[in-house]
Amino acid sequence: GGESHIHDVDFSFEGPFGAFDQNQLQRGLQVYTEVCAACHGLQYVPLRTLGDEGGPHFSDAEVRAYSSNFSVFDADLDDDRDAIPTDHFPGSALENAPDLSLMAKKRAGFHGPYGSGMNQLFKGMGGPEYIYSILTGYTGEEKEENGTVFYENTAFPGGWIAMAPPLYEDQLEYNDGHSNSEHHVAEDVSAFLMWTAEPKMMARKQTGFIGVLMLAILASLLYLTNKRLWAPHK
Ligand code: HEM
Repeated sequence: GGESHIHDVDFSFEGPFGAFDQNQLQRGLQVYTEVCAACHGLQYVPLRTLGDEGGPHFSDAEVRAYSSNFSVFDADLDDDRDAIPTDHFPGSALENAPDLSLMAKKRAGFHGPYGSGMNQLFKGMGGPEYIYSILTGYTGEEKEENGTVFYENTAFPGGWIAMAPPLYEDQLEYNDGHSNSEHHVAEDVSAFLMWTAEPKMMARKQTGFIGVLMLAILASLLYLTNKRLWAPHK
């Protein structure tokens, strides 16, 4: 395949103190619901987590109302019923569309140089950037092979993807008044999919920071103790 091009995006959740932007996650959920869910599922994501702090943080009533848009098969009833917050999002509706729950961690956007990991260190793993770049990487060229239409895409490995360009200008209206231009919509849904793939990222960063802080305090105390112990022998 050809060289795939991944665009670097400045996401709010990057860096040691980065955090998810609650409004962006809510907009990203809207994009997923109105556009991507027609084909892709989120089968590993429990609907109740939409109420989590550090996530989209919807109210209980909002989560319940959102859940009821989906229908799930209930083995006890032997019938379909409206989904409730303890259910998961449905799986993919289209057989060849991959589930998106973990996509932002499955794919790496940035590689090299030469396995040194420098690019990943400075730019992150690039999973959400990969998704963003796929969504905005269409050239407009298409071809048909064995009855399947492929669309040229500068981010997809190999250069041709079987997903038609899902986004277009002014496709949806955000109710927080945020810009709905194609690249904003692509950014919002990519951020949302980072959250589905790593919902505890903020807790992890906070724990890591406290750990580093404790080690720094311990290191300075050890340094001072060491000085004191050896002082008479100098
Ligand atoms: C593949 C995201 C909408 C059908 C993919 C991939 C991503 C993605 C990241 C690449 C996965 C990989 O690396 O293997 C999205 C997002 C959408 C969206 C974020 C909404 C904004 C749709 C829609 C359809 C669709 C509406 C169906 C009409 C597919 C198919 C593939 C795919 C069939 C597999 C393509 C291949 O392997 O060549 N999607 N998608 N997607 N998507 Fe979507």
